[in-house]
Amino acid sequence: MAAAFSLLQQPARRDPMASTSGASQEQEAYFGRVAPLNLLPAWKVMPIYAPAEPKTPCLPAVWHFREIKPHLLESVRVISAKEAERRALLLHNPGLTGAAHGITQTISGDYQIMLPGEIAPAHRHTQTAFRLFLEGDGAFTAIDGEKIYMKRGDLIIQPPGLWHHHGHEGGPGTPPVIWFDALDVGLCGIFESTFFHSFTQDEFPVTRPVGSTRGRYGSGVVPASYRPQPLDYRMYAYPYAATRGALDSLRATEACDPYDGWKVRYVNPTTGDHAMTTMAAHLQILPSGMTTAPYRSTDGAVFVVVEGHGRTVVGGTTLDWEPNDVFVVPSWQWHHHEIAGEAVLFSYSDRAAQERLGLWFEERGNR
Ligand SMILES: [Fe+2]
Repeated sequence: MAAAFSLLQQPARRDPMASTSGASQEQEAYFGRVAPLNLLPAWKVMPIYAPAEPKTPCLPAVWHFREIKPHLLESVRVISAKEAERRALLLHNPGLTGAAHGITQTISGDYQIMLPGEIAPAHRHTQTAFRLFLEGDGAFTAIDGEKIYMKRGDLIIQPPGLWHHHGHEGGPGTPPVIWFDALDVGLCGIFESTFFHSFTQDEFPVTRPVGSTRGRYGSGVVPASYRPQPLDYRMYAYPYAATRGALDSLRATEACDPYDGWKVRYVNPTTGDHAMTTMAAHLQILPSGMTTAPYRSTDGAVFVVVEGHGRTVVGGTTLDWEPNDVFVVPSWQWHHHEIAGEAVLFSYSDRAAQERLGLWFEERGNR
């Protein structure tokens, strides 16, 4: 979505912070008199609220799966999936301090591991979530009474408010399963709109056949009686084989985009809007040897490497990556990708929320 008016080229302007530098003795005394009334002079905090362009404390960072996997495997000896509720290692942005623990200020990311026979107990929450499955066989997630079995690269979205639990049905000796999770934890925290309920039993009853939501809504048709409702999300599973097929189809007929290679957006099939209420998700393929053109946008984006290897340059920081690695490009930072081996990148951000609120902007640079 393009900006309705241009904020990208700012006119020459006076410095809004000029009046805040070097408070006089009289001003300092005034601050002291109003502070006991829980008042704060607006001009004193202007530097926080009046940047010429978006600022973020978040830093560009990469998490290497080969370094993290041993710690994930160790975690199964430390705590069970049931005890932990979700046995996961959160990816904490090194630029965030205090209570914030997201990969950006609005969204989280984590690697989760389950052993055969384990159940991660049923709960529901207002946060929107998704799972991108990475490795292993026999895992399912059950959403609102439907089991969905997961394979590598599958995206499973978790609309807010629906009961869900996870399990690993592999027999004894079957390797653990690992997937990547994300939630809009920080966003719900900012709005102070979070509800979280645990179900009375570990498993929420499964009442619908495997494949029922995708079967009804994933084929370009909907049940004849269905009438779309706002924020109505009826399909949860986006199998990698189908999404990768769509990318290959795009590649066969369209020119390579200098910024994105070939890129598709996950959508709600009943509306064509983003697949989730707050988070946008994309999958792109970038050919070997490609260097993308510089780009920045107001949504801090997180990338999960599905295939290939390369590096991403964010400002003065270079992030090398390979399959299952995760890296983050914070808000409004120029970046480009350099592809060493044909790559498929999954990415997500709070762009869906920003678009709904009229806050999303992008800028495309020249090589
Ligand atoms: Fe959950």
